Amino acid sequence: MYNSKIIGLGKYVPDNVVTNDDLSKMMDTNDAWIQERTGIKERRWVEKGSDDTTATMGVKAAKVAIERAGIDKDDIDFIIFATLSPDMYFPGPGVQVQHALGIKTVGALDVRNQCSGFIYAISVADNFIKTGMYKNILVIGSELHSFGLDKTTRGRGVSVIFGDGAGAAVLTREENNSKGILSTHLHSEGEHAEELVLVAPGMGKRWVSDIIADNDPNDESYFPHMNGQFVFKNAVIRFSEVIMEGLAKNKMEVSAIDMLIPHQANLRIAQFIQKKFKLADDQVFNNIQKYGNTTAASIPIALTEAWEEGKIKTGDTVVLAAFGSGFTWGSAVIKW
Ligand code: UT7
Repeated sequence: MYNSKIIGLGKYVPDNVVTNDDLSKMMDTNDAWIQERTGIKERRWVEKGSDDTTATMGVKAAKVAIERAGIDKDDIDFIIFATLSPDMYFPGPGVQVQHALGIKTVGALDVRNQCSGFIYAISVADNFIKTGMYKNILVIGSELHSFGLDKTTRGRGVSVIFGDGAGAAVLTREENNSKGILSTHLHSEGEHAEELVLVAPGMGKRWVSDIIADNDPNDESYFPHMNGQFVFKNAVIRFSEVIMEGLAKNKMEVSAIDMLIPHQANLRIAQFIQKKFKLADDQVFNNIQKYGNTTAASIPIALTEAWEEGKIKTGDTVVLAAFGSGFTWGSAVIKW
């Protein structure tokens, strides 16, 4: 059995900065509320008419990650793409990446685990590499939320939180079993599937032809719905549990963490975890202030920025953790 390690990281965010004040011109909200409840100051939203899509942003992030990995695109054996906002309902964006990068006909897998998507994706990649099935895997998390948000006061509890962007990582085989990804931990609790949900265009509730025939301007099923407080309460519990699970598996104490990269859901959640685990400011990386919650892209964007800023060094213990819609949650413990 091998280990896997991350050898290249990249990110891409659209140029268009949307501040909280910009949002207050669209809906009844304000900078003070958003900052106090979420920590977010601004986010990036793709502008109408731009070429940016979930797939193309993923490709841009992937190109940076591949270049930094120092490998040729043709050395990639497999692609995994995590998103909740694909360009098309099907096929998923994995195949768009294969085509856009001009990679030979390797497999492309789409992961649909929302905020936990990147953790699920690197867990799959890690295990394909561990067994020797593949050597180099490209993992992408990308989201274009802004086109699908309800930007009226009705949707303010959700729409002020989410941002657009993409992050990518190249994973490769590591012969030394004490280096690279040490373990990953995945969980779900489908009982709460509808607490954070986008119902349409799923086939579970109604015929698409009926939705079209109804043509109801008040139909909210195409907008994400979130029971914010309930999600928040579950998030703080599951984040803590799954971080502890990862540490216990590797016989580590909390003090072993050099860098915790939590999914950027809400700054208050990250601060709660930091306080609970008594971590110093330089042991937890947050950038939700600049980008909002970019769901499957949030961890790879944050990981890339932390690495670019020299906050992750060889030998560091890096812990990734996420929680979100499903509910799904997970963690990864990495020896960098
Ligand atoms: O990434 C996946 C996982 N997601 C999460 O973990 C998110 C978890 N949840 C949260 O982050 C928070 O619950 C929110 C940020 C979504 C909401 O914060 P909250 O402190 O839970 O606020 P609330 O939903 O309880 O709403 C409080 C008040 C309400 O008004 P009333 O009923 O007290 O008069 C809302 O109508 O704030 C109002 N409100 C707003 N006011 C201004 C809701 N959204 C807004 C807004 N601007 N954007």
